[in-house]
Amino acid sequence: MIEKIADFIRQHIGDYHPDTAIILGSGLGSIADTINNPIVLPYTDIPGFPQTTVAGHKGQLIVGQLHNHQVLCMQGRFHLYEGHNPQIINTIIQVFKTLGIKQLIITNAAGSLNPDITPGSIMMITDHINFSGLNPLVGKDDEKYGPRFPSLANAYPADLRKKMQNIADKINIKLRQGIYLMVLGPNFETAAEIKAFRILGADAVGMSTVPEVICAARCNIKVLGLSVITNYGTGMSQSTTSHHETLEQGQRACADLAKLITSYLKE
Ligand code: HPA
Repeated sequence: MIEKIADFIRQHIGDYHPDTAIILGSGLGSIADTINNPIVLPYTDIPGFPQTTVAGHKGQLIVGQLHNHQVLCMQGRFHLYEGHNPQIINTIIQVFKTLGIKQLIITNAAGSLNPDITPGSIMMITDHINFSGLNPLVGKDDEKYGPRFPSLANAYPADLRKKMQNIADKINIKLRQGIYLMVLGPNFETAAEIKAFRILGADAVGMSTVPEVICAARCNIKVLGLSVITNYGTGMSQSTTSHHETLEQGQRACADLAKLITSYLKE
């Protein structure tokens, strides 16, 4: 399946040899519009590719030029709460590896667990807590892509984060850093859960990203993770969390996110 999907993509992207993959989260898809000379492959056209089911998620691969890099961008990702088999995420990351991807810029919308990280801001992920109860590496394994028991000690390499933090400081975008905790979803958390996650040491909570990062770290793809903070966790403010609010705040911070990513790829 990995070779089949990779071959299909290769056959459709001409002379492009992307070295950077970008995965765009809820309401953050518009960055894809800044890719030059794009080739668009809807997921429905790619044999073996699953389909997205969430409002605000488009469902296409876009390959093209973004400043100094050729990029492969997933506009619309697969959440485990949609009922996908977690292994499909491993397959997709292994396709990236097969295509020669060296670094992954992964974005998401997340709730803040830290009063100092306000809605509308961006948090760079320093580490994660996998609270989903699932793992994309469970099951049959091909050691060609990495070890059976991979280390995640360096899943979010400090050199990439340092580079991004310097860029953010230079272009005057406030970029926070913190720990991302993944829940399976699809419900937003209870106030008791938010309280517990804060005690565990997490700064943000969301329903994605961790599976992709586990697979990328395993096959030696460097990860830069960026969370757009769309709301405070349940019980931390007066308002309740909604998908609408997530999309709205996502759009607001989307311009900053696009600037960060394009400036990073320029350097
Ligand atoms: N919880 C989980 N996922 C989210 C949230 C949240 O508060 N906001 C955006 N995605």
